[in-house]
Amino acid sequence: MSDESASDPRAELAAGLLRRPQAALAPKFFYDRLGSALFVAITELDEYTLTRDEAAVLAAHGDEIAAAVHARLGPRPTLVDLGAGDCAKAAALFTRLQPARYVAVDIAVDFVREALAALQQRHPAIEMWGVGQDFSQRLALPAGLPAGPALVFYPGSSIGNFEPADALRLLQQARAAAAGGALLIGVDLVRAAPSLHAAYDDALGVTAAFNLNLLRHANRLLGSDFDPRQWAHEASWDAAGSRVQMWLRARQALTVRWPGGERMFAAGERIHTENAFKWTPEAFAALLRDAGWRAPRHWREGAGRFAVFLASA
Ligand code: TRP
Repeated sequence: MSDESASDPRAELAAGLLRRPQAALAPKFFYDRLGSALFVAITELDEYTLTRDEAAVLAAHGDEIAAAVHARLGPRPTLVDLGAGDCAKAAALFTRLQPARYVAVDIAVDFVREALAALQQRHPAIEMWGVGQDFSQRLALPAGLPAGPALVFYPGSSIGNFEPADALRLLQQARAAAAGGALLIGVDLVRAAPSLHAAYDDALGVTAAFNLNLLRHANRLLGSDFDPRQWAHEASWDAAGSRVQMWLRARQALTVRWPGGERMFAAGERIHTENAFKWTPEAFAALLRDAGWRAPRHWREGAGRFAVFLASA
Protein backbone atom coordinates (compact mmCIF):
# COMPACT_ATOMS: atom_id res chain seq x y z
CA MET A 1 0.00 0.00 0.00
CA SER A 2 1.21 3.51 -0.67
CA ASP A 3 -0.40 6.79 0.23
CA GLU A 4 0.40 10.04 -1.53
CA SER A 5 -1.59 12.90 -0.01
CA ALA A 6 -2.85 15.23 -2.73
CA SER A 7 -2.48 19.00 -2.64
CA ASP A 8 -4.25 20.95 0.13
CA PRO A 9 -8.00 20.72 -0.59
CA ARG A 10 -8.76 24.03 1.15
CA ALA A 11 -6.34 25.95 -1.05
CA GLU A 12 -7.72 24.19 -4.12
CA LEU A 13 -11.36 24.93 -3.24
CA ALA A 14 -10.64 28.59 -2.40
CA ALA A 15 -8.68 29.10 -5.63
CA GLY A 16 -11.59 27.63 -7.62
CA LEU A 17 -14.13 29.88 -5.93
CA LEU A 18 -12.00 32.95 -6.61
CA ARG A 19 -11.37 32.05 -10.24
CA ARG A 20 -12.37 34.81 -12.74
CA PRO A 21 -14.52 35.18 -14.63
CA GLN A 22 -15.99 31.76 -13.85
CA ALA A 23 -15.79 30.12 -10.44
CA ALA A 24 -15.20 26.36 -10.47
CA LEU A 25 -15.27 23.50 -7.97
CA ALA A 26 -13.30 20.39 -8.91
CA PRO A 27 -15.39 17.26 -9.56
CA LYS A 28 -13.28 15.10 -7.24
CA PHE A 29 -15.06 16.90 -4.36
CA PHE A 30 -18.38 15.31 -5.38
CA TYR A 31 -17.38 12.09 -3.70
CA ASP A 32 -17.80 12.32 0.05
CA ARG A 33 -19.91 9.52 1.62
CA LEU A 34 -23.26 11.00 0.55
CA GLY A 35 -21.89 11.99 -2.86
CA SER A 36 -20.67 8.46 -3.51
CA ALA A 37 -24.08 7.08 -2.48
CA LEU A 38 -25.86 9.59 -4.74
CA PHE A 39 -23.62 8.62 -7.66
CA VAL A 40 -24.59 4.97 -7.14
CA ALA A 41 -28.23 6.15 -7.21
CA ILE A 42 -27.53 8.01 -10.49
CA THR A 43 -26.34 4.77 -12.07
CA GLU A 44 -29.79 3.29 -11.31
CA LEU A 45 -31.67 6.08 -13.13
CA ASP A 46 -33.48 5.36 -16.40
CA GLU A 47 -31.84 8.42 -17.96
CA TYR A 48 -28.25 7.55 -16.96
CA THR A 49 -27.50 4.63 -19.29
CA LEU A 50 -23.69 4.85 -19.19
CA THR A 51 -23.01 2.34 -16.39
CA ARG A 52 -25.49 -0.27 -17.64
CA ASP A 53 -24.28 0.19 -21.22
CA GLU A 54 -20.68 -0.50 -20.23
CA ALA A 55 -21.70 -3.60 -18.27
CA ALA A 56 -23.70 -4.74 -21.32
CA VAL A 57 -20.67 -4.39 -23.64
CA LEU A 58 -18.44 -6.32 -21.24
CA ALA A 59 -21.08 -9.03 -20.74
CA ALA A 60 -21.87 -9.45 -24.44
CA HIS A 61 -18.29 -9.28 -25.74
CA GLY A 62 -16.35 -10.37 -22.66
CA ASP A 63 -15.10 -13.65 -24.14
CA GLU A 64 -13.80 -11.93 -27.26
CA ILE A 65 -12.25 -9.12 -25.20
CA ALA A 66 -10.55 -11.61 -22.85
CA ALA A 67 -9.21 -13.59 -25.83
CA ALA A 68 -7.80 -10.38 -27.33
CA VAL A 69 -6.20 -9.45 -23.99
CA HIS A 70 -4.66 -12.92 -23.59
CA ALA A 71 -3.35 -12.78 -27.17
CA ARG A 72 -1.55 -9.51 -26.34
CA LEU A 73 -0.50 -10.19 -22.71
CA GLY A 74 -0.47 -13.92 -22.12
CA PRO A 75 -2.81 -16.11 -20.03
CA ARG A 76 -2.30 -14.57 -16.54
CA PRO A 77 -2.05 -10.79 -17.03
CA THR A 78 -1.48 -8.10 -14.41
CA LEU A 79 -4.59 -5.92 -14.14
CA VAL A 80 -4.17 -2.25 -13.15
CA ASP A 81 -7.53 -0.66 -12.26
CA LEU A 82 -7.72 3.16 -12.42
CA GLY A 83 -10.34 4.61 -10.06
CA ALA A 84 -11.02 1.15 -8.62
CA GLY A 85 -13.53 2.29 -5.95
CA ASP A 86 -15.28 -0.83 -4.65
CA CYS A 87 -13.33 -2.92 -7.23
CA ALA A 88 -16.60 -4.44 -8.49
CA LYS A 89 -16.09 -3.70 -12.20
CA ALA A 90 -12.64 -5.28 -12.25
CA ALA A 91 -13.78 -8.21 -10.12
CA ALA A 92 -16.47 -8.91 -12.71
CA LEU A 93 -13.64 -9.52 -15.22
CA PHE A 94 -11.59 -11.87 -13.03
CA THR A 95 -13.21 -15.10 -14.23
CA ARG A 96 -12.63 -14.33 -17.89
CA LEU A 97 -9.28 -12.51 -17.59
CA GLN A 98 -7.66 -14.80 -14.99
CA PRO A 99 -5.26 -12.10 -13.74
CA ALA A 100 -2.23 -13.19 -11.71
CA ARG A 101 -2.04 -9.80 -10.06
CA TYR A 102 -4.54 -6.99 -9.41
CA VAL A 103 -3.41 -3.39 -8.70
CA ALA A 104 -6.26 -1.14 -7.53
CA VAL A 105 -5.52 2.60 -7.85
CA ASP A 106 -7.84 5.17 -6.29
CA ILE A 107 -7.69 8.55 -4.56
CA ALA A 108 -9.71 6.97 -1.69
CA VAL A 109 -7.16 4.41 -0.53
CA ASP A 110 -9.03 3.45 2.68
CA PHE A 111 -12.12 2.52 0.70
CA VAL A 112 -10.03 0.46 -1.73
CA ARG A 113 -8.23 -1.28 1.13
CA GLU A 114 -11.55 -2.48 2.55
CA ALA A 115 -12.72 -3.67 -0.85
CA LEU A 116 -9.43 -5.50 -1.48
CA ALA A 117 -9.56 -7.27 1.87
CA ALA A 118 -12.98 -8.70 0.98
CA LEU A 119 -11.92 -9.52 -2.58
CA GLN A 120 -8.75 -11.29 -1.45
CA GLN A 121 -10.90 -13.74 0.57
CA ARG A 122 -12.83 -14.72 -2.52
CA HIS A 123 -9.76 -14.82 -4.81
CA PRO A 124 -6.84 -16.07 -2.73
CA ALA A 125 -4.76 -16.94 -5.83
CA ILE A 126 -4.68 -13.33 -7.12
CA GLU A 127 -1.92 -11.11 -5.73
CA MET A 128 -3.56 -7.78 -4.75
CA TRP A 129 -2.11 -4.31 -4.29
CA GLY A 130 -3.78 -1.03 -3.33
CA VAL A 131 -2.34 2.30 -4.45
CA GLY A 132 -3.61 5.64 -3.10
CA GLN A 133 -3.10 8.17 -5.87
CA ASP A 134 -4.92 11.16 -7.34
CA PHE A 135 -3.98 10.10 -10.88
CA SER A 136 -6.13 12.91 -12.34
CA GLN A 137 -3.11 15.13 -11.58
CA ARG A 138 -0.46 12.65 -12.65
CA LEU A 139 -0.49 8.88 -13.07
CA ALA A 140 2.76 7.24 -11.99
CA LEU A 141 2.69 3.81 -10.36
CA PRO A 142 4.92 3.77 -7.26
CA ALA A 143 8.25 1.98 -7.32
CA GLY A 144 7.97 -1.24 -5.34
CA LEU A 145 5.17 -2.70 -7.41
CA PRO A 146 6.22 -5.74 -9.43
CA ALA A 147 7.33 -4.48 -12.86
CA GLY A 148 6.19 -5.85 -16.22
CA PRO A 149 3.46 -5.43 -18.79
CA ALA A 150 -0.07 -4.83 -17.52
CA LEU A 151 -3.61 -4.41 -18.76
CA VAL A 152 -4.65 -0.92 -17.64
CA PHE A 153 -8.43 -0.86 -17.07
CA TYR A 154 -10.14 2.53 -17.01
CA PRO A 155 -13.91 2.03 -17.00
CA GLY A 156 -16.91 4.32 -16.51
CA SER A 157 -16.04 6.77 -19.28
CA SER A 158 -14.14 8.73 -16.64
CA ILE A 159 -11.77 9.74 -19.44
CA GLY A 160 -14.70 11.90 -20.62
CA ASN A 161 -14.32 14.07 -17.53
CA PHE A 162 -10.95 15.35 -18.81
CA GLU A 163 -10.34 18.15 -21.29
CA PRO A 164 -9.05 16.51 -24.49
CA ALA A 165 -5.50 17.79 -23.82
CA ASP A 166 -5.57 16.33 -20.30
CA ALA A 167 -7.11 13.11 -21.59
CA LEU A 168 -4.19 12.82 -24.02
CA ARG A 169 -1.69 13.32 -21.17
CA LEU A 170 -3.42 10.74 -18.95
CA LEU A 171 -3.52 8.23 -21.81
CA GLN A 172 0.22 8.75 -22.36
CA GLN A 173 0.87 8.17 -18.66
CA ALA A 174 -1.39 5.11 -18.75
CA ARG A 175 0.73 3.79 -21.61
CA ALA A 176 3.86 4.17 -19.48
CA ALA A 177 2.06 2.37 -16.62
CA ALA A 178 1.09 -0.47 -18.99
CA ALA A 179 4.82 -1.08 -19.61
CA GLY A 180 4.33 -2.72 -22.98
CA GLY A 181 0.88 -4.14 -22.11
CA ALA A 182 -2.56 -2.92 -23.15
CA LEU A 183 -5.45 -0.60 -22.29
CA LEU A 184 -9.13 -1.48 -21.78
CA ILE A 185 -11.18 1.71 -21.52
CA GLY A 186 -14.88 2.61 -21.51
CA VAL A 187 -16.09 5.62 -23.50
CA ASP A 188 -19.57 7.15 -23.58
CA LEU A 189 -20.37 8.18 -27.16
CA VAL A 190 -21.83 11.29 -28.78
CA ARG A 191 -25.56 10.90 -29.46
CA ALA A 192 -28.72 13.02 -29.75
CA ALA A 193 -28.78 16.06 -27.46
CA PRO A 194 -32.01 15.24 -25.53
CA SER A 195 -30.65 11.85 -24.47
CA LEU A 196 -27.35 13.39 -23.36
CA HIS A 197 -29.05 16.21 -21.48
CA ALA A 198 -31.48 13.90 -19.65
CA ALA A 199 -28.58 11.72 -18.48
CA TYR A 200 -27.31 14.73 -16.52
CA ASP A 201 -30.66 16.25 -15.48
CA ASP A 202 -32.99 13.43 -14.47
CA ALA A 203 -36.69 13.62 -13.63
CA LEU A 204 -36.25 12.61 -9.97
CA GLY A 205 -33.65 15.26 -9.23
CA VAL A 206 -31.01 12.76 -8.07
CA THR A 207 -28.37 14.38 -10.28
CA ALA A 208 -29.35 17.80 -8.90
CA ALA A 209 -28.85 16.49 -5.35
CA PHE A 210 -25.50 14.99 -6.37
CA ASN A 211 -24.30 18.28 -7.85
CA LEU A 212 -25.61 20.37 -4.92
CA ASN A 213 -23.98 18.03 -2.40
CA LEU A 214 -20.66 19.44 -3.61
CA LEU A 215 -21.56 22.62 -1.70
CA ARG A 216 -22.06 20.68 1.57
CA HIS A 217 -18.74 18.95 1.06
CA ALA A 218 -17.01 22.28 0.32
CA ASN A 219 -18.53 23.70 3.52
CA ARG A 220 -17.00 20.87 5.54
CA LEU A 221 -13.57 21.00 3.88
CA LEU A 222 -13.20 24.77 3.53
CA GLY A 223 -15.48 26.09 6.29
CA SER A 224 -17.54 27.97 3.68
CA ASP A 225 -21.18 28.92 4.30
CA PHE A 226 -22.90 27.76 1.10
CA ASP A 227 -26.67 27.32 1.48
CA PRO A 228 -27.58 24.66 -1.12
CA ARG A 229 -31.15 26.05 -1.22
CA GLN A 230 -29.78 29.19 -2.88
CA TRP A 231 -28.35 27.20 -5.79
CA ALA A 232 -29.82 25.28 -8.71
CA HIS A 233 -28.39 22.37 -10.73
CA GLU A 234 -27.88 23.01 -14.43
CA ALA A 235 -26.63 20.78 -17.23
CA SER A 236 -26.12 21.91 -20.83
CA TRP A 237 -24.94 20.12 -23.97
CA ASP A 238 -22.25 22.06 -25.83
CA ALA A 239 -22.31 20.48 -29.29
CA ALA A 240 -19.31 22.46 -30.57
CA GLY A 241 -17.21 21.30 -27.62
CA SER A 242 -18.79 17.80 -27.64
CA ARG A 243 -19.42 17.99 -23.91
CA VAL A 244 -22.13 18.13 -21.28
CA GLN A 245 -21.30 20.94 -18.86
CA MET A 246 -22.50 20.89 -15.26
CA TRP A 247 -23.06 24.03 -13.26
CA LEU A 248 -24.48 25.33 -10.02
CA ARG A 249 -26.47 28.52 -10.65
CA ALA A 250 -27.08 31.15 -7.95
CA ARG A 251 -30.84 31.61 -7.56
CA GLN A 252 -30.29 35.11 -6.09
CA ALA A 253 -27.45 37.56 -5.46
CA LEU A 254 -25.41 36.24 -2.55
CA THR A 255 -21.99 36.18 -0.91
CA VAL A 256 -20.17 33.01 0.06
CA ARG A 257 -17.69 33.39 2.93
CA TRP A 258 -14.95 31.12 4.24
CA PRO A 259 -11.98 31.63 6.60
CA GLY A 260 -9.70 34.02 4.73
CA GLY A 261 -11.94 34.74 1.74
CA GLU A 262 -15.31 35.52 0.20
CA ARG A 263 -16.94 35.85 -3.20
CA MET A 264 -20.07 37.64 -4.30
CA PHE A 265 -22.27 35.97 -6.90
CA ALA A 266 -24.84 37.85 -8.98
CA ALA A 267 -28.26 36.23 -9.44
CA GLY A 268 -27.86 33.67 -12.23
CA GLU A 269 -24.08 33.52 -11.96
CA ARG A 270 -22.73 29.99 -12.22
CA ILE A 271 -20.04 27.81 -10.69
CA HIS A 272 -18.68 25.21 -13.12
CA THR A 273 -18.52 21.72 -11.54
CA GLU A 274 -17.79 19.16 -14.28
CA ASN A 275 -17.47 18.50 -18.00
CA ALA A 276 -18.47 15.18 -19.50
CA PHE A 277 -16.92 15.01 -22.97
CA LYS A 278 -18.57 12.59 -25.37
CA TRP A 279 -16.51 11.03 -28.16
CA THR A 280 -17.23 9.50 -31.53
CA PRO A 281 -15.51 6.11 -31.98
CA GLU A 282 -13.34 7.64 -34.73
CA ALA A 283 -12.24 10.61 -32.62
CA PHE A 284 -11.45 8.41 -29.63
CA ALA A 285 -9.40 5.97 -31.72
CA ALA A 286 -7.45 8.98 -33.03
CA LEU A 287 -6.87 10.21 -29.46
CA LEU A 288 -5.53 6.77 -28.49
CA ARG A 289 -3.14 6.78 -31.46
CA ASP A 290 -2.02 10.34 -30.59
CA ALA A 291 -1.18 9.05 -27.09
CA GLY A 292 0.98 6.31 -28.62
CA TRP A 293 -1.46 3.39 -28.27
CA ARG A 294 -1.47 0.95 -31.20
CA ALA A 295 -4.11 -1.10 -32.98
CA PRO A 296 -7.18 0.21 -31.16
CA ARG A 297 -10.37 -1.79 -31.63
CA HIS A 298 -13.70 -1.39 -29.91
CA TRP A 299 -16.97 -3.10 -29.05
CA ARG A 300 -20.36 -1.41 -28.57
CA GLU A 301 -23.71 -2.32 -27.01
CA GLY A 302 -26.83 -2.61 -29.16
CA ALA A 303 -27.90 1.03 -29.02
CA GLY A 304 -24.43 2.28 -29.98
CA ARG A 305 -24.27 4.65 -27.01
CA PHE A 306 -21.12 3.25 -25.42
CA ALA A 307 -17.83 1.73 -26.59
CA VAL A 308 -15.14 -0.31 -24.85
CA PHE A 309 -11.74 0.13 -26.53
CA LEU A 310 -8.74 -2.19 -26.38
CA ALA A 311 -5.35 -0.93 -27.55
CA SER A 312 -1.72 -2.11 -27.30
CA ALA A 313 1.08 -0.11 -25.67
N1 TRP B 1 -18.26 11.26 -14.03
C1 TRP B 1 -19.70 11.10 -14.10
C2 TRP B 1 -20.16 11.49 -15.50
O1 TRP B 1 -19.67 12.42 -16.07
C3 TRP B 1 -20.27 11.90 -12.99
C4 TRP B 1 -21.62 12.50 -13.10
C5 TRP B 1 -22.79 11.90 -13.37
C6 TRP B 1 -21.92 13.86 -12.88
N2 TRP B 1 -23.81 12.79 -13.32
C7 TRP B 1 -23.30 14.00 -13.01
C8 TRP B 1 -21.17 14.98 -12.57
C9 TRP B 1 -23.91 15.23 -12.83
C10 TRP B 1 -21.80 16.20 -12.38
C11 TRP B 1 -23.15 16.34 -12.51
O2 TRP B 1 -21.00 10.84 -16.06
